[in-house]
Amino acid sequence: MKVIDAEFAQNFFRMCQDGFDRGWHERNGGNLSYRIKPEELEDIREDLGHYEGSLQTGEWKEIGTSVPFLAGEYFMVTGSGKFFRNVELAPKKNVCIIELDETGRKYRIVWGLCAGGRPTSELPTHLMNLEVVKKRDPGIRVVYHCHPTNLIALTYVLPLDEEIFTREIYEMATECPIVFPEGIGIVPWMLCGGRDIGVATSEKMKTQDICIWAHHGAFACGHDFDETFGLMHTAEKGAEVLVKVMSMTDTKRQTITPEMFRQLNEPFGVHINERFLYDKKPGAKIGER
Ligand code: 13P
Ligand code: ZN
Repeated sequence: MKVIDAEFAQNFFRMCQDGFDRGWHERNGGNLSYRIKPEELEDIREDLGHYEGSLQTGEWKEIGTSVPFLAGEYFMVTGSGKFFRNVELAPKKNVCIIELDETGRKYRIVWGLCAGGRPTSELPTHLMNLEVVKKRDPGIRVVYHCHPTNLIALTYVLPLDEEIFTREIYEMATECPIVFPEGIGIVPWMLCGGRDIGVATSEKMKTQDICIWAHHGAFACGHDFDETFGLMHTAEKGAEVLVKVMSMTDTKRQTITPEMFRQLNEPFGVHINERFLYDKKPGAKIGER
């Protein structure tokens, strides 16, 4: 089977378009990775190793970090400097499949980026995230980075405190605590595109499915593309409501209380982490405990 005909690949390309349509991928902003299942790899194997047009493909290159728990696995990832708006139109130019070596320190391109290029500059963060989430749940295969406007805007006005940030977003949409009961992780501003920010992000992803990069964007993970996109969409929707509320007032007239959140646990089969359900001071403004 051709890679572009595989269902996972079609879902990958569609998610890039969905993210672009939401306005989360200006220029080359954002990147997406997927850990390919063994049976999916067998289906496409005959189409791998075609490197036409590219000077760089086939050579083993340093990832810039070490992910031994992913050694030998294959990933579909977006290319560095490539625009999400072009992925569905020309997937083979904008996306690649990489193989990791047996040490988990090197990769090589086995499909795609046919006009040249390299995997996303955030490859260390993607792979480190994919490694920690595989350890906690081997079914998690998708890691997504985008630049969602409202979540980013809030990193300028809310304290960069996970408990406060998460709680304010929880209060904006009942489904938020159901979709991310472990809350939103926060990485303060750091230089992107390297190992250090990957270490900081993957530390959050040990327990959380979504993490903000202050003044930059967000990362989410999930079992499949729908779940991962839906998670980002839900958090960004909560953030959008909060931006609207904050543009009208700094104090809510009424809201969802911790006791109301706790009522969601049983019927929805979740356990909302109590660290986000603290009691607030009477009259607390938005962003205050
Ligand atoms: P890439 O084009 O290298 O994927 O970088 C985009 C981005 O969002 C960096 O954080
Ligand atoms: Zn980015």
